[in-house]
Amino acid sequence: MRSKTLARLACTAAAFILLSACGTAGPGNSGGYTVADDTAAYPDAVALYETNCLTCHGNALQGRVGSESDLSQVGSRHDKDAIIAIVRDGRDIMPTFKDVLSDEDMQALAAWLSTKK
Ligand code: HEC
Repeated sequence: MRSKTLARLACTAAAFILLSACGTAGPGNSGGYTVADDTAAYPDAVALYETNCLTCHGNALQGRVGSESDLSQVGSRHDKDAIIAIVRDGRDIMPTFKDVLSDEDMQALAAWLSTKK
């Protein structure tokens, strides 16, 4: 009887640790990725993204204007230079950002997005 209770306690504790490890994305989030998770590693890119891209591409790169706007694996389709070219020139309903972002801004965005594979 006693050992069963202990085992159950240990199990609950293990589940709690696992759950909290998954919960690093913060309150209100079920543990899924959001671009804010990359703020420490790519502060400029995430800030630029939130201002210029998030409305269409979503807070988790999931894309909000059709499947073509899903950037969650964009790095497996385009390298850094190709991403810069798309951002500079625009594509389909995506506007050009050549008058909005500096070369450094586009470099920062593309360096980050090209890691999404
Ligand atoms: C007005 C909505 C809109 C905004 C704002 C926007 N995009 Fe897009 N973007 C799209 C759409 C729609 C596509 C897919 C275009 C197509 O059909 O080829 C796309 C495609 C892309 C692609 C190519 C995806 C692929 O897999 O081929 C990249 C990279 C990209 N966007 C980056 C950005 C970045 C970085 C920003 C911010 C600087 C941005 N976009 C802002 C709508 C937008």
